[in-house]
Amino acid sequence: MSVARQSLMDRYRRYLPVSDATPSLTLGEGSTPLVAVPRLGKRFGVPGLHVKVEGQNPTGSFKDRGMVVAVAKALEGGARAIICASTGNTSASAAAYGAAAGLETIVVLPAGKIATGKLLQALVAGARVVAVQGNFDAALRVVRELAADERHPVTLVNSVNPFRLEGQKTAAFEVCDDLGRAPDILAIPVGNAGNISAYWNGFREYRAAGLIPDLPAMWGFQAAGAAPIVLGHPVAEPDTIATAIRIGDPASWDKAVAARDESGGRIEAVTDAEIVAAYRDLARDEGIFCEPSSAAGLAGVRKLAEAGAVPAGAIVVCVLTGNGLKDPATAESVIDAVMDAGISAAEVQEVLGW
Ligand code: F0G
Repeated sequence: MSVARQSLMDRYRRYLPVSDATPSLTLGEGSTPLVAVPRLGKRFGVPGLHVKVEGQNPTGSFKDRGMVVAVAKALEGGARAIICASTGNTSASAAAYGAAAGLETIVVLPAGKIATGKLLQALVAGARVVAVQGNFDAALRVVRELAADERHPVTLVNSVNPFRLEGQKTAAFEVCDDLGRAPDILAIPVGNAGNISAYWNGFREYRAAGLIPDLPAMWGFQAAGAAPIVLGHPVAEPDTIATAIRIGDPASWDKAVAARDESGGRIEAVTDAEIVAAYRDLARDEGIFCEPSSAAGLAGVRKLAEAGAVPAGAIVVCVLTGNGLKDPATAESVIDAVMDAGISAAEVQEVLGW
């Protein structure tokens, strides 16, 4: 357990459903950097562009914020085991926090559609991993059914567990604490639609507490091949390179639509090509390596800025939900080849064209 830095549950204790009866638990989640990205902002025509680097959480994604609360509450309630469906990050986080809490962890995943790093994280942490022949939506139906079976008591830690969204809303608090206000626009990828809902809750709570005067417009972005909210109906066979958000029937659909409408925001689609371009430009302009799904918000802001929809001078925060190291296969598709050379300085100079 990390002791030198304040845990997420301690930092935002007064806003979280935790009490003295809740076991303390932390792997060092939260307090992630909000980074100004002026070079990318110039490229996009959005000088006030910032990114919230959630890939710096302990298991490399924002999921740790909600998982620490969900697992602590499961422990408080006497649970022995946790279960989730996942496109990868939830399972990596559940496995880590489950291990730290001494709980058995079971994860159910869509076969063949999980980025390598995420799968390895769950397995190394000792989770029992089951791959099913279906997509995330089918896997979520399976774990909901399993969690309802009283013969095998197990706590469901997907974002339908309300403690997950409670923990995740702390990212909105941090954005406001760092900016001294809410951004004008909060741009975020949308998959199962929990995170956009959690951020909206966080901003509203901070305003109710008198800590910020204004709320941001919530801009959510789905991948074009997995855009049920944009289309207005579930997608039976969602398909995108952004496997983390390859979801056709989001559990928090209604909450995301409410966040969009109450904030005067929008939920739109971005293509895989737009996602990958934003992912690569972020790394090359700013040195920040996010996972492809994470770049959906950036891709959306670029597209809408080109369409003239970003007001001049707007402070825009894009949430980078996960770390690029999780998905080496997509990285390989955008990189230049390594240059081979002999062992001498002259031979290295030759390949460098010096
Ligand atoms: N970005 C990343 C990297 C994700 O892993 C997810 C969701 C999202 C964005 C979308 O967030 O679902 O709250 O709208 N991943 C889940 C998982 C589904 O199983 O890891 P959301």
